[in-house]
Amino acid sequence: MREPMRVAPIELGDRSYEVVIGAGALALLHGRAQLVVPGRRALVVADAGLPDRVVTLAEDALRSAGFGLATRRLAPSEEDKSLETVRSLLEDAARARLDRHDVVLGLGGGIVGDVAGFVAASYRRGVHVIQAPTTLLAMVDASVGGKTGVNLRVGERLLKNMVGAFWQPRMVLADVATLESLPPRHLRCGLAECLKHGLIARTALGDAGADLFGWTAEVGPGIASGDLTHATELVARHVEVKAAVVRADEREEDAGRVSRAILNLGHTFAHVLEGLGDVSPDGDAASAPLAHGEAVALGLVAATAMSGAMGEMAGAEIAEVRGAVGSVGLPVSVEGLPRAEDLAERMRDDKKVVGGTLRVIAPRGIGRAAVVVDPPESAVLEGWRAIGAG
Ligand code: GLY
Repeated sequence: MREPMRVAPIELGDRSYEVVIGAGALALLHGRAQLVVPGRRALVVADAGLPDRVVTLAEDALRSAGFGLATRRLAPSEEDKSLETVRSLLEDAARARLDRHDVVLGLGGGIVGDVAGFVAASYRRGVHVIQAPTTLLAMVDASVGGKTGVNLRVGERLLKNMVGAFWQPRMVLADVATLESLPPRHLRCGLAECLKHGLIARTALGDAGADLFGWTAEVGPGIASGDLTHATELVARHVEVKAAVVRADEREEDAGRVSRAILNLGHTFAHVLEGLGDVSPDGDAASAPLAHGEAVALGLVAATAMSGAMGEMAGAEIAEVRGAVGSVGLPVSVEGLPRAEDLAERMRDDKKVVGGTLRVIAPRGIGRAAVVVDPPESAVLEGWRAIGAG
């Protein structure tokens, strides 16, 4: 039997909205889109890899609700997550004569959502955006919370998400039926962000988040193998974590009890790993480079080991995290990494480029996390060695 649909409210005052989660949620564009969007024209930005039937479903739902449509298929890549792509989509919006009351629909994974969101934030100084994520990663993380943007190439470096805006969607429709056509590698990558949420869930939700890591580790292997029985509950429970963090610190100002930066647990290690083009998650050169979620998975293992070296994480907890990451088929260590000292240096370099000090998110036992400014070098090295660096 199919799980019932779930609705998660994102409470942000006059920028509040709902995340509707469940099989068939996309069809709700008919009925709900006109409630949250005053205009009647839409630019659909759809992932080129999606089956046509998913795009047609969204288009039909909007058309039958009275929207005039222009659709653009976008092949998502970090290289093309660029201002050039934004520019050409802005031209599409102008050609389709979108006005300030109209809407951009982001239909796809995190890259498509980030680009579509930024187009919406900048076209005519801001039009509406509806996010319809079709990957697990985008459902539990990227589509919720209003971060939009693109990468910037400066010389040799691709600076991720360097240009963007906070631009909250009017609604998020997470149709878990779209996960049926998602390649297993993408499902695993989404589970990396879920395990990350499990590791911060007590900080975000208090006692209500106490069992999330354990529950995610339990259902994770089934999801990784394509059994979507618990997909709606999985997405709903993880959106709840994201919602709580975003509500506490919408613009990552780090002023209150909970900092939005904790959502970056594992990501400081991951960004360095993603810059190493030839590292493979499974030892097979054909699978290189690491996908974002794979790098995050390794980042979780590394951050956990770093916390262990700082006396903040017990041996059994470190083993539990490693076990959970491995049990969903994500890498816990990889071959061919540079020396730990070089990797630590790259971490600091990245921060220098963006003009900041090194801030790493460190788990404090399972479920809690904190921002650590300039962690001890020896602990950072321990983190890198835990995932295979020499
Ligand atoms: N994905 C991190 C954030 O939304 O803040």
